[in-house]
Amino acid sequence: MEKIVDQNQTNGCTNSTNVKKFFDQEWDLYKKVVKLNYMAHKEILEMLRKLFRSVQPPVFSVLELGCGDASLLGSALQGTGVSAYCGVDISRYALEIAEKNMQLHQCDKRFIECDLLEGVGRFGAEFDVIVAGFSLHHLMKEEKGHFFEKCRAALKSRGTLIIFDEVCYPGENRNRFFDRFSGICLQEWNKLTNDEKSRIFDHVKNNDYPETFEFYKQLAEGHGFKGSQILFQDKRKLYGILSFST
Ligand SMILES: C[S@@+](CC[C@H](N)C(=O)[O-])C[C@H]1O[C@@H](n2cnc3c(N)ncnc32)[C@H](O)[C@@H]1O
Repeated sequence: MEKIVDQNQTNGCTNSTNVKKFFDQEWDLYKKVVKLNYMAHKEILEMLRKLFRSVQPPVFSVLELGCGDASLLGSALQGTGVSAYCGVDISRYALEIAEKNMQLHQCDKRFIECDLLEGVGRFGAEFDVIVAGFSLHHLMKEEKGHFFEKCRAALKSRGTLIIFDEVCYPGENRNRFFDRFSGICLQEWNKLTNDEKSRIFDHVKNNDYPETFEFYKQLAEGHGFKGSQILFQDKRKLYGILSFST
């Protein structure tokens, strides 16, 4: 196992410093939300399991951008032919848990503590699969363009990019998304305290920049990806999974 800490770790994305602070301090709150399945992690895990069982080639390498504690991929990759895993995140707190969650995998492992745009920029045509889960929405529009460009360069010639994230309705902007999101949270996220909800609203309002499926599709195609597919949308249509191939 290799561990790398980038000294300029929050260089790269506009929101990195704030996002790092939030996830270093609020990881337990995020895990509570995940455990209650408020962000559809259960359904996402099922879909990823299916995907990893049919991925070509059957022995494959994975780069995870914004891996957090890697618990989702740690589970989704069980019983697959994963030969190498690299997790990138700016939260040291989450990465330390990621190392433990990936312990059962015997593949080559690397954990890089740095901004994800910096992280993906280190690689050239090295990975079969790149996954970014609930991390891309923290990037500004222009940064999302760099993200697709760098992912394309880091993937092999028959590679797959998988994104699961918040998604706007067609024509919905970030403010309207926030109103819709907060309305659903207030009505349905009943197992959180008011204080926990308000910390989440604060984070989403100040740091989340969700986009439409169409925006991601166009951006990906503009950077050389093809075969874009929507693989899943939750029943509230807040979250979705997209895949792209090289
Ligand atoms: C909502 S959590 C998702 C974690 C995990 N992928 C999951 O699905 O449970 C977002 C993660 O992305 C990381 N992140 C956000 N922006 C980042 C950036 N610019 N560079 C590196 N990591 C970033 C955060 O530190 C956090 O661990």
